[in-house]
Amino acid sequence: MGGMMVAIVSTVAYLGLEARGVEVQVQLIPGLPAFNMVGLADKAVGESRERVRGAVAGMGLALPPKRIAVNLSPADLPKEGSHFDLPVALGLLAAMGVVDAEALADYVVVGELGLDGRLAPSPGVLLAALHAAETGRGLICPAAQGSEAAWGGGIEVVAAPDLLSLLNHLKGEQLLAPPQPGGVEEGRSGPDLRQVKGQEVAKRALEIAAAGAHNLLFCGPPGAGKSLMAACLPGILPPLDPAEALEVSMVQSVAGTLPGGTLTRARPFRSPHHSASMAALTGGGLRVKPGEVSLAHLGVLFLDELPEFGRAALDSLRQPLETGTVSVARANAHVTFPARVQLVAAMNPCRCGHLGDAGLACARAPRCAADYQAKVSGPLLDRIDLHVDVAAVSAADVKHGSMSEYRKLVGTTPSRLRRGRAAKRFVGHYNSGSRELSRKHAGPISMVFDPPIILRAAA
Ligand SMILES: Nc1ncnc2c1ncn2[C@@H]1O[C@H](COP(=O)(O)OP(=O)(O)OP(=O)(O)O)[C@@H](O)[C@H]1O
Ligand SMILES: [Mg+2]
Repeated sequence: MGGMMVAIVSTVAYLGLEARGVEVQVQLIPGLPAFNMVGLADKAVGESRERVRGAVAGMGLALPPKRIAVNLSPADLPKEGSHFDLPVALGLLAAMGVVDAEALADYVVVGELGLDGRLAPSPGVLLAALHAAETGRGLICPAAQGSEAAWGGGIEVVAAPDLLSLLNHLKGEQLLAPPQPGGVEEGRSGPDLRQVKGQEVAKRALEIAAAGAHNLLFCGPPGAGKSLMAACLPGILPPLDPAEALEVSMVQSVAGTLPGGTLTRARPFRSPHHSASMAALTGGGLRVKPGEVSLAHLGVLFLDELPEFGRAALDSLRQPLETGTVSVARANAHVTFPARVQLVAAMNPCRCGHLGDAGLACARAPRCAADYQAKVSGPLLDRIDLHVDVAAVSAADVKHGSMSEYRKLVGTTPSRLRRGRAAKRFVGHYNSGSRELSRKHAGPISMVFDPPIILRAAA
């Protein structure tokens, strides 16, 4: 067993939507028994020693009475997550001579180990599979993520339920069946815009927003249907094309929210609560995870009750809205996630919500409205092209809402426009509306185009 031999297993570290190659080097050195891990590992990676020890012992193997040295290389690349367990375990088993080190050279390995040797899912497998495909290797991953890994395209995927069955597969004793890629969901998400009665101006604004990928703000009293209409937007957007669906799935993969490896063609709709922290919105935290603005990538980010969001949280959205990406600073790296979203915000005109309604408005109007609206910073409002005042629907509207006429519009207009001239806006400059004009909005609906045109619907 080659005394000072170094066993090498390939794995990855996730930096945003990129999987970078990492080499796990394991060496058994004569000396007092110890298990040391070096190479800029975070806490979860450090803990992997215990899980590896448990899993190896679980197979009835004793750890060698030597110093076990594990190095994760390159050392300056930050390493986060629990998916290093399996490559460390395989490296150790290779150094012990239990697994054939040569057989491992053809694979990228990811997976979290339980103390009993079971392989548990960990975020990012789709990215690891794409990395394996790029470098011309196969992927070893937990069985639960085989269908996700199979999207990697044409690579050999070994998806094992536990360490023992993986070893049996590698020895050729009992082969594991190759996993099939998960399905593709065609469904459109969210409620149907056709169920919204009345609100013709707001619905028209939604269509314009859908066609031109404009950000949109609904302002109106409680119960006017703002939240409902916002949730209708993904349903009138064209479905994701295959490349977009893959990109959205990659974000979900690193976030650990890609259930059963099913890709979806419905546009994301994220509606974070107004108590959301900056890290929750833009990403980051103890372990880098994409935030809401990235989970909404290529879809809709809905901020309900906009003024109730923390000021710092809202301002942190300005950069992603501007650039379509969000970067999270780490100890010694910048992690970038895509964040090309269409922002829909909703707010009441004042705290009580009934400004302008003589019967319901509180005694503090109109000062409280000014205070309330001032909680949203100008620069953020500047990034919202369409500001729409939404009045409460009258009983008559609800009863005789002009549904039939509306049906003709929905489903044709936005997709058609998107594919044409407006599509270029969507791809290129996301918020290209001229900033100077967008604040001078007046009337129930005003919008800014490039070149500037201000539309005003009849009140
Ligand atoms: N125009 C409408 N057509 C059909 N249903 C409506 C309409 N307006 C409101 N509703 C219904 O009324 C309820 C309240 O609507 P919603 O929550 O969207 O209002 P809102 O404007 O967001 O109010 P708030 O300011 O309190 O958040 C929902 O159940 C919604 O389905
Ligand atoms: Mg609401």
